[in-house]
Amino acid sequence: MSDPLVLGIETSCDETGVAVLEGFDVLSFVLASQTEEHARFGGVVPEVAARAHVEAIRPLVHQAIGAAGVHPDQLDAIAATQGPGLIGALMVGFAFAKSLAWTLEKPFYGIDHMEGHLYAPRLEFPEYEPPAIVLLASGGHSQIVHVREWGEYETLGTTIDDAAGEAFDKLARFVGLGYPGGPAIDAEAEDGDPKAVAFPRALRDRPFDFSFSGLKTSVVTYLEKARDDETLPSRPDIAASIQEAIVDVLVEKTFNAVEETGVTSVGGGGGVLANRRLRARLREEAARREVDLFIPSIRMCTDNGAMIAAVAVDRLRDGIPPDDLGSDVDSSMRLGS
Ligand code: KG4
Ligand code: ZN
Repeated sequence: MSDPLVLGIETSCDETGVAVLEGFDVLSFVLASQTEEHARFGGVVPEVAARAHVEAIRPLVHQAIGAAGVHPDQLDAIAATQGPGLIGALMVGFAFAKSLAWTLEKPFYGIDHMEGHLYAPRLEFPEYEPPAIVLLASGGHSQIVHVREWGEYETLGTTIDDAAGEAFDKLARFVGLGYPGGPAIDAEAEDGDPKAVAFPRALRDRPFDFSFSGLKTSVVTYLEKARDDETLPSRPDIAASIQEAIVDVLVEKTFNAVEETGVTSVGGGGGVLANRRLRARLREEAARREVDLFIPSIRMCTDNGAMIAAVAVDRLRDGIPPDDLGSDVDSSMRLGS
């Protein structure tokens, strides 16, 4: 079969992402971010997200198809994120994609958002193949996945409370940095000393799991005491120390999984993988252990339509039957289920 032409739609959270792929070649990639609309609330408001997707989806699909230089009739399939995510947000992209598939009489695939993140590095690294250990860290999820084959995933570890991105967002708010917190802490930390404050690294006794809620408590307690004692470090030092505490455990646990499985390829996905310190630390550690690292560009780490289309390209190539147009979103979908 020639390389399938697939339209992918992603609306699980606060980015409307649409892309057209030909095989794993990205013909078009468009995104409408809602960050500014949510910033004044200090976090993603589900109702606001769903409405913004409704406004963005039709022009974006139009734009993606136009930029790809294809006619809708040429598409081999249409794919959309089925879950996990915000239910109202998911429904917008899913229903739009199903309607388009019905109108154009094309196969439709509902895709797991996290599987999309697992696929994203494939769009930039043709040599990236399983087995691989993949660190997925975003605003809603933090997990370490052993990719045995494409389609065969074992989640080795996960967070027992907050996701890594959520920790960045909450802590940024607490220290007076803006929303979203990850990029704000990343920028503020640039001139800070990561060793200024030794915040705790939780769950050292569980090799692959994460916990970030204790870090929040300890930052709050530390700052209150430091303010009283008038020993408060500079905000860049605080940001760098918070960042280091989060990055340390993400890196440590990813490489615990590498050690345990003997796998020599490491991938990454999710918004937190945009973090410059995390990217640098993963690179250092991979080089030290002579492990191949496949961390995609920042636009491919954060939510987008291309990663969703990529999974459907593989489904078509493998002859996996499309999904029924009666299928529905699943806001708590779990990888491999
Ligand atoms: O994958 P994503 O775009 O959306 C979700 O599926 O959640 O991830 C968004 C999360 C937010 O929590 C944001 O603060 C975090 O990724 N993030 C970062 C950076 N850029 C985005 N965290 C740390 N450093 C960054 N540079
Ligand atoms: Zn995501």
